[in-house]
Amino acid sequence: MLFPMARKNCPECGGTGWLVEAAKGGGRVAVPCSCTEIGREARARERARIPARYENRDFENFDVDPYDHQEPDAASWSKSLKEARLVVESFAREYPAGSDHGLLLMGPCGVGKTHLAVAALKVLAARGHEGVFYDYRDLLKQIQASYNPESQTTEMEVLEPVLKAEVLLLDDLGSSKPSAWALETVGHILNARYNDNRVTIITTNYLDAPRSGDSGRQMVREDILADRIGQRIRSRLYEICRTVIIHAADYRERVMKAWR
Ligand SMILES: Nc1ncnc2c1ncn2[C@@H]1O[C@H](COP(=O)(O)OP(=O)(O)OP(=O)(O)O)[C@@H](O)[C@H]1O
Ligand SMILES: [Mg+2]
Ligand SMILES: [Zn+2]
Repeated sequence: MLFPMARKNCPECGGTGWLVEAAKGGGRVAVPCSCTEIGREARARERARIPARYENRDFENFDVDPYDHQEPDAASWSKSLKEARLVVESFAREYPAGSDHGLLLMGPCGVGKTHLAVAALKVLAARGHEGVFYDYRDLLKQIQASYNPESQTTEMEVLEPVLKAEVLLLDDLGSSKPSAWALETVGHILNARYNDNRVTIITTNYLDAPRSGDSGRQMVREDILADRIGQRIRSRLYEICRTVIIHAADYRERVMKAWR
């Protein structure tokens, strides 16, 4: 099979559109060359480090009316999902011309924060921008592991792609225990990226204050973002990011559970 869109005389594939690579499980496989559209998109996604679970999450399959209409809050949750999708999608569409330096997606678990953030990253990657996904906890662990004298990588090698990526998606900010060291590191990353005019998309489970309507769930101090990442970084984020708060119910609990 030939790829009609493959580049004639491509030095990589000779114009066939296919490359033969070593397969993960051994043997060899044919993969689309990056001179084809499919190959370009696949490479971009690989480079973006998007977790397999989120690979096919996009704006089109983000349902803004997923809840049972018997639920008294369904309409208000749906409104919140619609607004969130609109803001994130516009951000991705306008990038890099838009005025926002980043997005801060806040909300309880399972409301689709990572889904929307990944959808944005994929749109940007498809347009040729370089975006990378990092889980906050994994990143801190990777940095910490680099301090081990036996480690093959240095802290700078871990940090370099995080600092230099055109667009960074930092998922689940505040999810690990806030040690002084962790705060220092995150502060450094966000500041450096901001100073270099690079965009950061952040998701977090933490909010700024208890919601008046959330009577059922007492908000404890540990649930407040500034207490997880420190007042200084929180304050910085106001300047860097456009905040998007999602008030909705857990999609995993309300919708996915019903499929099983
Ligand atoms: N409105 C939606 N339409 C379709 N799928 C959704 C929607 N909301 C969430 N999902 C799916 O539900 C799962 C949980 O969503 P996601 O991981 O984005 O939540 P989250 O807000 O990031 O949660 P957490 O705070 O636990 O990280 C994902 O598989 C996601 O694709
Ligand atoms: Mg998430
Ligand atoms: Zn090629």
